[in-house]
Amino acid sequence: MDYQLRKAEPRDVPDILRLVKELAKYEEMEHQVTLTEKDLLEDGFGDTPFYHCIITEVQGGESSDDPKVAGFAMYYFTYDPWVGKQLYLEEFYVMDQYRGLGIGSGILRHLSNLAMKTRCTGMMFVVAENNEPSVQFYKRRGAEDLSQEEGWRLFRFDKESLVKMAAPAEE
Ligand code: COA
Repeated sequence: MDYQLRKAEPRDVPDILRLVKELAKYEEMEHQVTLTEKDLLEDGFGDTPFYHCIITEVQGGESSDDPKVAGFAMYYFTYDPWVGKQLYLEEFYVMDQYRGLGIGSGILRHLSNLAMKTRCTGMMFVVAENNEPSVQFYKRRGAEDLSQEEGWRLFRFDKESLVKMAAPAEE
């Protein structure tokens, strides 16, 4: 399968949001996506990008067709105080009709090279427990299940909790 990988540009924002929504739908949580194209543009392409994206393009049916965005990975860098820099894989998605053709492996190859170049010591990500095909996809490539092996649990403070904690303490 002929495909190209490239860094996302501001013009890709509509496709990025489209793919984010497709992945959320795949995970049966599409109603939780509230992000807008404006947010993605400001947050990824301003002075301090909060995320980076790699885009996969495939050629349309006719050679005169524009290339079509068929998949993406969203990532950023985090820091582990025990072992240092980590690449955090936030989103990873290839459209249904292009799966099983090596695009996902190509994206992981690209990100692994990037992790080596930036001297990261690992790549972290979260997978829904019921997403068995992806759990197996990652395991076949050597990923460790830290919830199972080390007992970590994923937590979040939602905005309401943050507002409460941010309020000044009562005298
Ligand atoms: N769909 C998915 N996987 C298929 C397939 C199909 N129709 N047909 C075959 N496969 C197998 C391939 O043989 C390959 O096996 P391998 O692990 O032994 O190499 C593997 O599944 C897919 O490899 P590849 O073609 O390199 O990846 P991909 O382009 O299908 O992308 C995902 C992988 C996970 C990004 C993609 O399947 C996807 O978007 N899944 C749904 C969203 C998702 O779960 N994302 C991850 C969230 S954590």
